[in-house]
Amino acid sequence: MSVDAGAYGIETRGLNLWYGDFQALRDVSLQIKPQLITSLIGPSGCGKTTLLRCFNRVNERYGSVRTTGAIEVLGQDIYAPAVSLVELRKAVGMVFQRPNPLPISVYENVVFGLRVHGDRRSLAKTMLDEAVERALREVGLWDDLKDRLHERATGLQLEQQQKLCIARLLPLKPSVILMDEPCSALDTAGTRAVEELMLVLKERFTILIVTHSMSQARRISDECVFMLLGEVVEHARTEQLFLSPKDSRTTDYVEGRYG
Ligand SMILES: Nc1ncnc2c1ncn2[C@@H]1O[C@H](COP(=O)(O)OP(=O)(O)OP(=O)(O)O)[C@@H](O)[C@H]1O
Ligand SMILES: [Mg+2]
Repeated sequence: MSVDAGAYGIETRGLNLWYGDFQALRDVSLQIKPQLITSLIGPSGCGKTTLLRCFNRVNERYGSVRTTGAIEVLGQDIYAPAVSLVELRKAVGMVFQRPNPLPISVYENVVFGLRVHGDRRSLAKTMLDEAVERALREVGLWDDLKDRLHERATGLQLEQQQKLCIARLLPLKPSVILMDEPCSALDTAGTRAVEELMLVLKERFTILIVTHSMSQARRISDECVFMLLGEVVEHARTEQLFLSPKDSRTTDYVEGRYG
């Protein structure tokens, strides 16, 4: 996907989503800026994961899903007939709650996307070797893993596995990285390490993270979006959202009254 000048990383207008008869997203209009970290926060079931899954059209895999409204990634309508889902999912990478490396080697995890999507030039061994080194350096794993590239990725520590799951997106040159509670399986040290990585990566990507941890949202995000019952209640700079929210429902959430 090429970047339209001045485009938001992600923009939605009047987005609604139904699972069968149940409306899970209501009139969501959002502008997510590039080169920032934006956190999606809100109580369980408010639609955070559903919203995240709209941006690479993964929701369409889930049975009777119907959406209305507009979504643009880098200024391009992701529902336009010419959009290739393969290209969209390269441009919009996703990281999940539990690290989910494939049960193959570290090396093959990093080059997996290139093998699936790449052209012949990018599949030359030297190109693959370079891609592995570059991606692992970018996530800070190269020094630890350069002598373990052919070990099974599922044997790594959880923190390393989650960083590897970020690394394997990078050879596909995404513009957006979606993270759905990426630290929920990690201990405190692992959480901090992945947060530090996000702060480095945000220079180059649009990063949207779902988190249940308000302290995490405050530590790492530039902007926060508070959702309730499928609606966006408030979207503001992080400091403003936590210190002087405009909506009383946001106040109740950040003060811990929603569980
Ligand atoms: N595949 C599905 N089919 C039907 N309903 C669904 C499906 N996925 C989610 N829902 C419903 O949509 C609503 C939003 O769910 P979603 O998983 O997006 O919430 P969430 O904010 O991510 O919650 P959590 O914080 O618990 O992860 C919930 O009521 C959920 O039960
Ligand atoms: Mg969720």
